[in-house]
Amino acid sequence: MYSKKLSEMTRGWFVGDFEPSAYRTNDAEAGIRVLEKGYCEQAHYHRSAVKVIAVLSGKLRMFNREWTEDDVVVFEPGGGDITSIEALQDSKIVVLMLPGIKNDKVYVDAQTEQIVNDSDIQRHRVKDIRTILNIMGNLLQIADIRSAASMQTNKTDRDYISMQKREYENPDVTPENIVGQYAWHEEYPYETFLLYKNGDVRKPIFENTKDKIALDFACGPGRMVKRMLKVFKKVDGCDISARLIEEARKRVPETDFYVTNGNDLGDVPLNHYDFIYCTISMQHIASYEIRRSILQNMKQALRPGGKIVLQMAYNSHFPYVSERARYRMNDKEIVMYEKADMADYFGNDFDAAKTNGLHDVGIGKRDLPEVKKDIAEIFDNVSLWFSSVKNYYDDLDGQKHSNYWATDWIYIYAEK
Ligand SMILES: C[S@@+](CC[C@H](N)C(=O)[O-])C[C@H]1O[C@@H](n2cnc3c(N)ncnc32)[C@H](O)[C@@H]1O
Repeated sequence: MYSKKLSEMTRGWFVGDFEPSAYRTNDAEAGIRVLEKGYCEQAHYHRSAVKVIAVLSGKLRMFNREWTEDDVVVFEPGGGDITSIEALQDSKIVVLMLPGIKNDKVYVDAQTEQIVNDSDIQRHRVKDIRTILNIMGNLLQIADIRSAASMQTNKTDRDYISMQKREYENPDVTPENIVGQYAWHEEYPYETFLLYKNGDVRKPIFENTKDKIALDFACGPGRMVKRMLKVFKKVDGCDISARLIEEARKRVPETDFYVTNGNDLGDVPLNHYDFIYCTISMQHIASYEIRRSILQNMKQALRPGGKIVLQMAYNSHFPYVSERARYRMNDKEIVMYEKADMADYFGNDFDAAKTNGLHDVGIGKRDLPEVKKDIAEIFDNVSLWFSSVKNYYDDLDGQKHSNYWATDWIYIYAEK
């Protein structure tokens, strides 16, 4: 026997193939979710997993009707059962996913949402907990069959890091194409947002930077090292890619560069840096566990009172991001909003096949309190601010940026 606290879990999810969890398995995911009145999740269905929602308290709107305490609603997978989930009152629900499959959810345009017939929904009035358990038991049997067929992977952080090393050391990688829209990024005023709170020039993070030492985490070919050297006394760089570090050494010979293991800062000196910053890289690490290990290493590398500013990618509607595909259902065109190739802030997409914009991590408005809380477990005086990406998509002094899913860059500021 062993036990854990629900309060240690992320957003109430206590069983599943993630950390933290009380029981790690991909046979099922279980969570007790507390939904505030007004919470609304966009219309979606599940490709392969059965979802069961038992309402413990409050009132929800799903499948165009209201559900209250005592209702257990079963969503069949495969595209028939599409619904949004809206909390009409503060509500508490148990959610079960059988089996637990990463990225199984498919979002559907709310405007063309299909209304599911009554007969398509299994609705159960339960008199006691045993009835729920019977339903769950039956579903677990189905889940066993499905999980065997769904070819779940058992990939770990090591697999993810190996994939990243491979991708970033690929011989086709050049200093320009790895940054992507290189010229656009060179025009973007990163210094304003890395060195001033809220990007407000009245609020510098340091009174004087000329006597300070900085570290560029995931510096790649040294693009921002070069720029920040104009501001700081010294700027070091570290990166997972030996190939890109070689390029960076050629471009900025006066800088000390370090190759990392993917979840750390390599051999950078400890208790040394006044400032650690990161641009267009943290959003490419689609694992919370790996980023957390990197954050812990950053803390060790900072001097007492040292600061971090880490830029990541934000879209207020995340996980409902840009349209990726369309299909027809009952003569209506459905626009899909897929989350399939992106990780949540707390996600660990160890089985991702790609990185660097092809499988990123997203932060949405709903995540902001949790992100702040999470960073505050390691650092002090956390604060967040934003700069627009979307407003500059097409034209930043004539330079183009592709229509990336993130509308803004989010900057995570914190102190040791
Ligand atoms: C798009 S490039 C950005 C490079 C640079 N920061 C810039 O702004 O120009 C992403 C960089 O992140 C690095 N990177 C990705 N995952 C990493 C990890 N887990 N640890 C260290 N570096 C990583 C890559 O090798 C690559 O150099």
